[in-house]
Amino acid sequence: MTTTATKPGGARARAAIAAKTLRTDNWRLAPLITVVGLGGWVAYATVRVFMHDFYWVEDYHYLTPFYSPCITDRCVTDAAHFGTYLPGWWVIPEASFTLPFLLLFRLTCYYYRKAYYRSFWASPPACAVPDGHKTYSGETRFPLIFQNAHRYAFYAAGIISIINTYDAIVAFRSPDGFGFGLGNVILVLNVVMLWAYTLSCHSCRHIAGGRLKHFSKHPVRYRFWTFVSKLNVRHMQLAWITLGTLALTDFYIMAVSAGWFGDLRFIN
Ligand code: FES
Repeated sequence: MTTTATKPGGARARAAIAAKTLRTDNWRLAPLITVVGLGGWVAYATVRVFMHDFYWVEDYHYLTPFYSPCITDRCVTDAAHFGTYLPGWWVIPEASFTLPFLLLFRLTCYYYRKAYYRSFWASPPACAVPDGHKTYSGETRFPLIFQNAHRYAFYAAGIISIINTYDAIVAFRSPDGFGFGLGNVILVLNVVMLWAYTLSCHSCRHIAGGRLKHFSKHPVRYRFWTFVSKLNVRHMQLAWITLGTLALTDFYIMAVSAGWFGDLRFIN
């Protein structure tokens, strides 16, 4: 049963509801799926990044995105497209220049914020369910105030997507010259999805069309903003799809590199 509390002065306040939530559906399922999905992906990526092996297929120039660009002196010479700058210590990932920025990009992403605030911090766990914490300071204080740096992580992610595109193009080389196999299909699919996710970013949409008073005076930006807006409505799906394509690409290259199976070649 609910009653409506009355504030001093007669104004109506929030209904005094004894129950924690009136939701009767299975609202715990979505945060649970997120915990399993994100937790599993992070565990897989961590193992792979510190494996320091099976990241390069010599014959077909396949380089996993988890090791790109490969910049430690442990890197296979042909895989180090941009040179080696760091020592090959176990704690130093091969892609030390890019992984921190990619992590920052995903951590500060508007969608992932919603996902992990709900699922890992219960803040709140779902709509119309009370926050798991007594106080709430939003993103106005340290450390969450740094979520506002997302735009800068977006710029870095754009550069990294260019590097991933370069890797996908280089992978069309085989021992006989031009070659094309299932690995190329997977690498290109991954890059297309990474671009779709990156361009669907809310910061990108604001950069494209924000602060404009008259779209009619900026037709190019308007067109780009329209394009980005169409991607933007799929941002959550693209966030998950790219986790899938990244893991698939890495796993396929690891499997071929380790000799678990050969690459399916269409043109040698
Ligand atoms: Fe998700 Fe920018 S809002 S990547």
